[in-house]
Amino acid sequence: MGKLRIGIAGATGAVGTTLLELFIAHQDPVEIVCYASAKSAGKTLTCKDQDFVLQPFDVEHAASCDVVFLCVSGDFSLEYGPLLAKNSTVIDNSSAFRYDPEVPLIVPPVNPHSFTGQTLIANPNCSSAIALVVLAPLHRQYGIEHLTLSTYQAASGAGKPAMEELVARTGAFKDYDRTFKSDYFRHDLAYNVVPHIDQFQANRYTKEEMKMVWEIRKVLEAPDMPIEATAVRVPALRSHAESLSIKFTQPVTSLDAVRSLLAADANVEVRDDIENNVYPMPVTSTYKHAVEVGRIRHSLVYGEYGLNLFVSGDQLLRGAALNAYEIYKLVYK
Ligand SMILES: NC(=O)c1ccc[n+]([C@@H]2O[C@H](COP(=O)([O-])OP(=O)(O)OC[C@H]3O[C@@H](n4cnc5c(N)ncnc54)[C@H](OP(=O)(O)O)[C@@H]3O)[C@@H](O)[C@H]2O)c1
Repeated sequence: MGKLRIGIAGATGAVGTTLLELFIAHQDPVEIVCYASAKSAGKTLTCKDQDFVLQPFDVEHAASCDVVFLCVSGDFSLEYGPLLAKNSTVIDNSSAFRYDPEVPLIVPPVNPHSFTGQTLIANPNCSSAIALVVLAPLHRQYGIEHLTLSTYQAASGAGKPAMEELVARTGAFKDYDRTFKSDYFRHDLAYNVVPHIDQFQANRYTKEEMKMVWEIRKVLEAPDMPIEATAVRVPALRSHAESLSIKFTQPVTSLDAVRSLLAADANVEVRDDIENNVYPMPVTSTYKHAVEVGRIRHSLVYGEYGLNLFVSGDQLLRGAALNAYEIYKLVYK
């Protein structure tokens, strides 16, 4: 068998570039084809000193790949995902198929068994994936009864140009300019926090918030688990932070036992040393594969049946590219 041919659609974007970096860092013996929009076609993308000539995306050309990563948009995935999945393995980073019962939604450290040979596989929302890595071992040990999440999401969650806009706005900042219309956020993000990501739904929650509800239930195979979320955009560049408030069915008698349980998980890094101001933050979790967890404490509401935790994870890695790469490894193990 020759080299596997890997197509990355959206290779110049925040997720696509991170995925390309992972393939190069792992020195996988594969041939990589980088696709972008027509405006980028023919240009050279340099990643870790390797040059890739960008191809305009063409579905027939992409069908020659064994694996196609879709890192463009939901509409793009809806149009091309099922077509490509006839002959190739498609790993989709958008939300287009995540809630389709026929399509597995996979966080490899949590539910690898959900892959049973399907050729279209969904990668979760970034905030869901980050939370799930920490929630899964806790759920196995203590049983989650219900869950409240609040997120503090970085600009790069809206893509590379959004990150560039925040850098430019922050650099030029003198005072709030309420007339500025952001191209990527509902309001100017510089020195601001915006409690609005994606569209509002009929229940007054945003789609981003409901994605966490639907996806955590699907991956934990707990379709009735009560979950609620508030998703907030903050002017961090990369890495989402989240506050998790959890009520368990079993008592959590020892915080040391929680720390040991989480520390034993290779996908989690415990940073919980409050005497020395050590806790999860985007500044420390950026570029890490593990999700940081800290501020571990009993709930003041549920006593020993509840925990409050703070997590921070690189959403371009665990929340997107690394998760997608691990799905590829699961398929071709
Ligand atoms: N950012 C995150 O943290 C994150 C996390 C999880 C999932 N996702 C999802 O991953 C996907 C990509 O997000 P992103 O943040 O990486 O976006 P991005 O930085 O804006 O990148 C978008 C990519 O799509 C390409 N593209 C646009 N239109 C195209 C077309 N018609 N044909 C081919 N390529 C086209 C762009 O190429 P050009 O450079 O040529 O314009 C660029 O490479 C989205 O579905 C997003 O929801 C993102």
